[in-house]
Parts: sequence; structure tokens; C-alpha cells
Amino acid sequence: MNLTVIDHPLTSHYLTVLRDEKTEPEEFRSAARRLTYTLVMEATKQVPLIEGEVTTPLETTTGYRMPDMVAIAVLRAGLGLLDAVIDMIPHVKVGFAGVQRDEETIEPIEYYFKTADLGSAHVLILEPMLATGGSLAWAVDKAKENGAQSISALCVVAAPPGVQAMYDRHPDVRVVAASLDRGLNDAAYIQPGLGDMGDRLFGTL
Ligand code: URA
Repeated sequence: MNLTVIDHPLTSHYLTVLRDEKTEPEEFRSAARRLTYTLVMEATKQVPLIEGEVTTPLETTTGYRMPDMVAIAVLRAGLGLLDAVIDMIPHVKVGFAGVQRDEETIEPIEYYFKTADLGSAHVLILEPMLATGGSLAWAVDKAKENGAQSISALCVVAAPPGVQAMYDRHPDVRVVAASLDRGLNDAAYIQPGLGDMGDRLFGTL
């Protein structure tokens, strides 16, 4: 499968903070940022490094540097992962993908897309809630239209229909998540999930 679920105590701890309905937006945002550090470590594991020389105070040896990277935050909830990505990969260029779901058909509707040239960069798509997979698959379509060849997705919670949709539509994209949850309710919210990630990040309940 194209899904990696992180097995780490810090990931489990911060996911539990996010799930807790009593967690207020301020703590929710910190927990999302801290959990994202663990997602980034895993999602960048297979990024091809650029080998070169580095001179220490003692001698010259071989060093490895990160390639060009682009992160695309799927609005709004992807913003909750962005600070940690920028912190860990300061040279990252950042794009934004605005998509909202049609509440009747559950299909993604695009309202904004802007990103850097993606040609040789490794692309991280920040889409915390992989529910039906519609928004993430759409964001990957857009990234590929803009030249992306190497893409990973960072999710907080994934649900089986979303994982399946990504496997069907974009089997080349590696999905990294903190949890694979049970399923979706009638409104396509993930169960047990953590509710509406955008509302919980920004206090718009
Ligand atoms: N988006 C969310 O914010 N939460 C879900 O459970 C599903 C989609």
C-alpha cells in the first residue's frame, strides 16, 4: 500500500490532544505543529539527497543536502501543518490549494491554486484529513499539471475510502499519516477522527 502510519509515542500523544473535544484552538494549533514534525521526518525519508563536499574544521568529507522542496497547503486545514514544515525545511517554497467540498455531492470545488515551479522539486502536499480523498487527489492532479514528479502527502488522520481513492488515482504518491481511522460518517467526517480540522484550528465552530 502507499500508506505509512507513524508508530511513535510523540505522534500518538499529540494525536490524542487533537482528538480531545476539550482541546481549545491555541493548544490544538501547538499540537498540530508538534505532530507535524514527526510527519515531516517520515515523509522526507526517501527524498533523494544531493551529495557534495563539506569542509569541517578538521578536514573535507562527504555531505548531503536536501533538494528543492515545495509544500502545497490545502486550505484551510493544511495551514495547521505549515509552520512545522517551514521550520524543518527553511528553503521550502510554499503553494496554496483552495478547495471546498460541495456539501451535497461531496465533490471538491476549486477556488484558488498558486504554487512555484514544481519541475525538479520534491513536493509535500499538506492535507490533514484524508476522508474521501477527493481534495487530496485533486491537489495531486494540480501539482502534476504543474510538473511535479515526486510527491508525498502529509495527513493527520486517514480513512480507508481516502486511502483507496489515492491508491486508485495516484498510486505513486506516498501518504504519511498519524492514524488510519475506522471510516466515515454520513457527512463524510472521519470516525473517530477529530472533527473539522479547520474549525478546530481557527475557532470557527
Ligand atoms: N475534513 C475535516 O476537517 N474533518 C473530517 O473528519 C473530514 C474532512
